Amino acid sequence: MPHFPSLPGPIGVFDSGYGGLTILRQIRETLPAYDYIYLGDNARTPYGTRSFEIVYEFTRQAVVRLFEMGCPLVILACNTASAKALRSIQMNDLPRMDASRRVLGVIRPTVESIGAVTQTRHVGVLATSGTIKSESYPMEIHKLFPDITVYGQACPMWVPLVENDEAHGPGADYFVQKYIDELLRKDERIDTAILGCTHYPLLLQKIRHYMPRRVHIVTQGELVADSLKDYLRRHPEMDARCTRGATCRYLTTEAEEKFAESASLFLNRAVEVKRILLE
Ligand code: DGL
Repeated sequence: MPHFPSLPGPIGVFDSGYGGLTILRQIRETLPAYDYIYLGDNARTPYGTRSFEIVYEFTRQAVVRLFEMGCPLVILACNTASAKALRSIQMNDLPRMDASRRVLGVIRPTVESIGAVTQTRHVGVLATSGTIKSESYPMEIHKLFPDITVYGQACPMWVPLVENDEAHGPGADYFVQKYIDELLRKDERIDTAILGCTHYPLLLQKIRHYMPRRVHIVTQGELVADSLKDYLRRHPEMDARCTRGATCRYLTTEAEEKFAESASLFLNRAVEVKRILLE
């Protein structure tokens, strides 16, 4: 059984790679006083095309490591991990490992806002193939808003475009338009589109360009950050376990230079990073 320090510690933010930095940036803007550890599993990214079992196992390893580093609370900033691993970790692993720690995802905070946004009650979700196949978005939306019809659209080329710094190139135009058209062809009444993947904010300019003006685009960084703020307000016992030194440590499972270089795409500044192994 792993050993988890019981002292207060930083908030852990986990992603399969760089994308979660878009969520971390927003969380730090909203809650700047806290300490954070960002962990990117860059050596094993992408998760979007991997099986349920593998995403669950990789995510569980990351959560255990962040707990070992003293995090009382871990945010799965990755939609694919939130879709495929969060529930199993909450239901099966946490009670055995340490029932006082928490793991939260990004899907629930994202869908909570939808009811007030859509007029037509026809909503699209743009995400990785893994997130779409998991049906997590429709399930979460229907728990809160059973009257909303949800259409999923997998966008397998969007993550590689961002990761390869092609978000502003002509290839991105082609694939952004392609998946938006495919989504809207499913039902022309769709008036709300959720960007259900950490990388998509980097394509936002092009997504706005190709999305008809009548469709409201929902990005998740701010929603996740506000939801975390609300969670800490409602759970003072957890809030008291989160240290406040306004620091952030970056960890990656890939080579440090590689992470540092690509992270600057997401954060617009240089970061210091340390490599760790997950197993
Ligand atoms: N972070 C993942 C997500 O939000 C995208 C990258 C991946 O496929 O690993 O779904």
